[in-house]
Amino acid sequence: MSLTAIEQHGIVLLGCGKMGSAMLAGWLADGLSPSAVWVLDPNPSDWLQGTGVHINEGVPDAPAIALIAVKPQMMGDALPSMAALGNSNTVFLSVAAGTPISAFASALGAQSPIIRAMPNTPAAIGRGITAIVGNEIVTPAQMDMADALLRAVGQVVRLEDESQMDAVTAVSGSGPAYVFHLVETLAAAGKAEGLPADLAMALAKATVGGAGQLAEDSDENPSQLRVNVTSPNGTTQAALEVLMNEHDGFPALLKRAVKAAADRSRELAK
Ligand SMILES: NC(=O)c1ccc[n+]([C@@H]2O[C@H](COP(=O)([O-])OP(=O)(O)OC[C@H]3O[C@@H](n4cnc5c(N)ncnc54)[C@H](OP(=O)(O)O)[C@@H]3O)[C@@H](O)[C@H]2O)c1
Repeated sequence: MSLTAIEQHGIVLLGCGKMGSAMLAGWLADGLSPSAVWVLDPNPSDWLQGTGVHINEGVPDAPAIALIAVKPQMMGDALPSMAALGNSNTVFLSVAAGTPISAFASALGAQSPIIRAMPNTPAAIGRGITAIVGNEIVTPAQMDMADALLRAVGQVVRLEDESQMDAVTAVSGSGPAYVFHLVETLAAAGKAEGLPADLAMALAKATVGGAGQLAEDSDENPSQLRVNVTSPNGTTQAALEVLMNEHDGFPALLKRAVKAAADRSRELAK
């Protein structure tokens, strides 16, 4: 990756919980030097302490990137430790749900390059997807640097407008939890049909994982893949008649769920 600036000037992680650790694990696996990483976190995990990165040793003078990965509620307490880096070449890269770029510009300085990103936790296994959008101070080279960094933990998409972030949060940011719940409920339904719990869970996990991979890798779109496995009057069709019901099937349910998440993201911004 084109990350020489990060190796040279360092990267700061403000907050290293679930999301920060998922991304850091991906970067270290991709070859980022632990000595280039400066973490600020009040309760560093055992995993983090074993990585060899700088922990709570302050921050370098002019890091290439400062990743902000604290909960939106903790932002007010956490951001002052970054103020000295504001209005400089350090790119602030925030993964906080619902916190708008304008909030960082107010706290860190209006001349600060700020990129808002929405990653997801499959980043921990290099299979994340991150959407990014920057303010007008961010240069194309800085945007490419953030893109390259995030690409180490999965795919990257660029948004045209920050307003798309609420919907992105609701689809891919929160989405892994919906899929985990699909696994849970598919396994429970298998158990209700008489299978032992562990067998039902093994079937559900492999089915969701395998079908997800097939949907991503196949030249055919997911609708066609679905049609391909649905014989007329067969077993799949019987289930799909329930799941595809416009009133109480997946379409209505996911529309409501995604709207609830997007609404919450808009609320957090206030
Ligand atoms: N989890 C996801 O799937 C996901 C997806 C996309 C975006 N995000 C975003 O990622 C951000 C972090 O979420 P998370 O799930 O990783 O939360 P988390 O596990 O709670 O991680 C936040 C970390 O920040 C630490 N922290 C708290 N106050 C701090 C301070 N003043 N200075 C430095 N560090 C501080 C916390 O320490 P303590 O535990 O001691 O408080 C914790 O280790 C959130 O803004 C969230 O919206 C998360």
